[in-house]
Amino acid sequence: MTTPDLFTQPEPGSAADHIAALRTELHLHAHRYYVLDEPSIPDAEYDKLFRELQALEAANPELASPDSPTLRVGGKALDQFASVRHAVPMLSIRTETDTEATGAQNFDARVRKELGLAESDPPVEYVAELKFDGLAMNLRYENGVLMQAATRGDGEVGEEVTQNIRTLRQIPLRLPSDVPPVLEVRGEVYMRRDAFESLNDKQRDKIAKGAKNEKTFVNPRNAAAGAVRQLDPGIAAQRPLSFFAYGLGEVTPQEEGGPQFESHYQMLLILKSWGFPVAALTQTAQGAPELISFHGKIARERDQLPYDIDGVVYKVNSLALQKKLGFVTREPRWAVAHKYPAQEQITTVLAIDVQVGRTGKLTPVAKLAPVFVGGVTVTNATLHNEDEARRKDVRIGDTVIVRRAGDVIPEVVSVLVDKRVQDAPQFSMPRTCPVCGSDAVREEGEADYRCTGGLFCGAQRKEAILHYAHRRAVEVEGLGDRLVEQMVDANIIRTLPDLYKLGLTALAGLERMADKSAQNLLQALEKSKSTTLPRFLFGLGIRHVGEATAKELAGHFGKLDTIMDATEAQLLEVSDVGPIVAQSIRTFFDQAHNREVVEQLRACGVHWPEAEPAARAPQPLSGKTFVITGTLPTLSRDEAKDRVEAAGGKVAGSVSKKTDYVVAGTEAGSKLTKAQELDISVIDETGLLLLLKTPAA
Ligand code: IVH
Repeated sequence: MTTPDLFTQPEPGSAADHIAALRTELHLHAHRYYVLDEPSIPDAEYDKLFRELQALEAANPELASPDSPTLRVGGKALDQFASVRHAVPMLSIRTETDTEATGAQNFDARVRKELGLAESDPPVEYVAELKFDGLAMNLRYENGVLMQAATRGDGEVGEEVTQNIRTLRQIPLRLPSDVPPVLEVRGEVYMRRDAFESLNDKQRDKIAKGAKNEKTFVNPRNAAAGAVRQLDPGIAAQRPLSFFAYGLGEVTPQEEGGPQFESHYQMLLILKSWGFPVAALTQTAQGAPELISFHGKIARERDQLPYDIDGVVYKVNSLALQKKLGFVTREPRWAVAHKYPAQEQITTVLAIDVQVGRTGKLTPVAKLAPVFVGGVTVTNATLHNEDEARRKDVRIGDTVIVRRAGDVIPEVVSVLVDKRVQDAPQFSMPRTCPVCGSDAVREEGEADYRCTGGLFCGAQRKEAILHYAHRRAVEVEGLGDRLVEQMVDANIIRTLPDLYKLGLTALAGLERMADKSAQNLLQALEKSKSTTLPRFLFGLGIRHVGEATAKELAGHFGKLDTIMDATEAQLLEVSDVGPIVAQSIRTFFDQAHNREVVEQLRACGVHWPEAEPAARAPQPLSGKTFVITGTLPTLSRDEAKDRVEAAGGKVAGSVSKKTDYVVAGTEAGSKLTKAQELDISVIDETGLLLLLKTPAA
């Protein structure tokens, strides 16, 4: 593809004209959506325009263009990346080793000295930026169109990753018409923390489902680098990357009509006006004191930022002064990186505990020798689940790299295997809950083990009580989040039945609990004792048993005891109950603790009307397959079908060896012939009605 001609107008009404208009419109919306965060049309409308453009381009391949938004979804996979020699080398920044505020003073003092400034001279103006933790990228625009994107490489030669970079929605493919003919914009490609977390969640999911060759990523920077270096741009397109601009490479010189910038900050503002994302936290700063306060401010905000940074960067603002200061080898004297304490550290694993969450999820957690990382002392790091723990193969006594970034829970990144003590045993998940001793199970296709002692398990107490008291379950009016929290923390309630043993004195001891509210709660509890079987069943919080399933179960079995004793096969007879649900119900009632809680609730007076098992008696037509053909004397075809199905039989559309009966009316055709050929019983409507009345054997 060559540089498109943006200046010759296409013939009005032509395909070229239509394509150009769609591209312009899509560029506009993408900028509003991805850069300004102010979408002006619904997503569906955007998708529609996008597909329209895709179709037009497919029909007119000669109108392909490197700035088409359709390239955002990725193109053909490559065998390898081409090398790119940078027109202007990509420099690096000197790092100030002093992570304290004095680091900023050191830099300012050096700049002033090199510029020959006296103490009485005014402060130097700087631009203070964030040091993004991603990878540097050079974006080359020719006549306003993105023609090439290249990694930094060794600073002289990088790799061409244009196809992948075009998939970044934040990077403009086309610039306004007033940009210089040659313009290289430099900045950082990075992955937001939320994007990183959801990418890893997806990866863990794939691994749990048995995918080979999939892995989780260590940190957002590695994930971003991996995405940029994907040979298949289709995969790169699915990895959500972002971009911040912070500098320039080659630009048409001023003598040849290029732009004239006075300062770095002015240049950033212009990049922004051309559609590039520039970090909002960028600012000018007068002298060392303002650099120090910027450093402090960002240190405080660092954890809350949506992306990782490893420090801040100070740059002399005036381009004339930058020129005067010049370079030492590959590093400019006018810039410095001022870092923060590292977010990764080395420590040892003292133990591996298993924690139980509010919903019964079991999480293996490495207990660490205390280590200062990401600004806090860390003693625990999550291992997520069994597969992750196995994959990283963390063992007690291991030396590991721990990472803590932002508010994210600290993680073990990797094990330094050569430092492992001999014979350290591999970790395996316990088969019982470490809190309550109930069975822990891992369902097929799930990554997590769960405790099955929902009602009984101390870790799940609050959640279990709240669920039981829910409006759509047993309903205890006024028993909400805060109250349950207080009662459990004050140890007034340990298990569900304790709710019904509450007295005024115990309640009166709770914070903000007026006499009147205590009275009301006791009344609500009394009222809740009279409930229905579906509500009670739902209230038990059995995994996979929602309101609808609870109703089906109650309708089918009628009595709680029958449900508690039903085999998996019997449970499977209930419509709505599949193997996973059946197994979950069975496991729940197999836990002695859970049965005990149910007994105690009954003993406290919780009751409901029970019914005879509605559908448990074997049905007359169960296991039999019918084919109905022709016109029956009184029943319509649908009525006959309903009757057969209500009696447990099945109705098929065609006759086969598996057919038990063909019900034939007048004008029965080929189906009747087929039945006779296969020697299948043929009956009429009277015969069917008779079968329906006959009790099953
Ligand atoms: S300016 C003349 N500004 O740090 C200096 N770099 O060691 C050229 N980086 O590879 C770079 N944030 O990936 C600059 N605000 C920022 C930056 C930044 C991160 C990275 C960049 C480069 C490395 C320089």
